[in-house]
Amino acid sequence: MHDGSGRVVVQNLTKTFGPVVAVQNLSFTVEPGSVTGFLGPNGAGKTTTLRMLLGLVTPTAGHATINGQPFHNLGNPGRVVGAVLEAQSFHPNRTARNHLLVYAAAIGAPDQRVEEVLHLVGLAEAADRGAGGFSMGMRQRLALATALLGDPQVLVLDEPANGLDPEGIVWLRTFMQNFARTGRTVLVSSHQLAEIEQTVEQVVILSRGQAMYYGPLEQLRKSQQGRVTVRPSDPQRLITALQEAGHTSIEHLPEGMLAVTGVEPEQVGDVALAAGVAIYGMQSQHADLERIFFQLTSGQFAGARYLQPPPPPGWEQQQQWQRPQDGGQR
Ligand SMILES: Nc1ncnc2c1ncn2[C@@H]1O[C@H](COP(=O)(O)OP(=O)(O)OP(=O)(O)O)[C@@H](O)[C@H]1O
Ligand SMILES: [Mg+2]
Repeated sequence: MHDGSGRVVVQNLTKTFGPVVAVQNLSFTVEPGSVTGFLGPNGAGKTTTLRMLLGLVTPTAGHATINGQPFHNLGNPGRVVGAVLEAQSFHPNRTARNHLLVYAAAIGAPDQRVEEVLHLVGLAEAADRGAGGFSMGMRQRLALATALLGDPQVLVLDEPANGLDPEGIVWLRTFMQNFARTGRTVLVSSHQLAEIEQTVEQVVILSRGQAMYYGPLEQLRKSQQGRVTVRPSDPQRLITALQEAGHTSIEHLPEGMLAVTGVEPEQVGDVALAAGVAIYGMQSQHADLERIFFQLTSGQFAGARYLQPPPPPGWEQQQQWQRPQDGGQR
């Protein structure tokens, strides 16, 4: 039987569809007690990974476990893990309540639980309407209600904010945080960092089926230094002067501009003045998460060159963690 830990482990998971490598040697662990974001652009392999975790797709290699067991060994999985995947479909003529009653019976949950989850997701008033006439946001809420029927320990949500109105998004955020706060596990995917930035504590960032970063969001934020862009009268003279002053992280930008990482504008100004270089413009840029996310996931950037991913907590025991490889191919 499963170990009741609430832990999700993905180990060396790979999935190929013909020539397409959807997921490549992916490893990460999701611990209970906080919300973990599973981030990556369209086609990064998020849904494929979650489907492998839920036993809906067979891995080409590696394995994924919930509570120490593959999904198929969980006994009554609806009691352990609740999932909302993309493109959920419901019997169009069945009311929301009837839909939930059928699923509750299938996993042995009492009928009373149906009323609870209808209230929980805000569908109580629409409970006797046919699900076929539901809006996208209402369908998302019904899918979530279905996932919650078994009062699961682990919640796996694939882009659950799609179709939700602003109020629904705020509600979902609070719901996920409260759920995790009770010591349970939430793994939630998104292709937009901004959408889950305020909700998650841990992130797994995926690009082309590979993990580019895995760890606390806060650590990712701190790992990135700001930079100063400057337009000097003589770029080469300023570079030499900056290097002599110990500022060696300098990058050429178009139109004679330079980007200097890890300095304050005053330092660049002082060095330029001492070197007799005129400054025609200068700007201080802070590393924002959106830019980090873009750098990590856009094809032109090899993430490992720009960011040393900090090892996950307890990584000494987790030999499955691997640094992303430069220029990883699909
Ligand atoms: N059944 C399939 N047959 C062939 N290719 C597939 C299949 N499922 C997924 N893929 C391919 O695997 C890659 C990863 O797809 P996946 O749906 O996992 O990405 P995703 O990160 O969920 O993207 P999105 O943000 O668009 O939902 C894509 O190139 C996709 O075309
Ligand atoms: Mg997807």
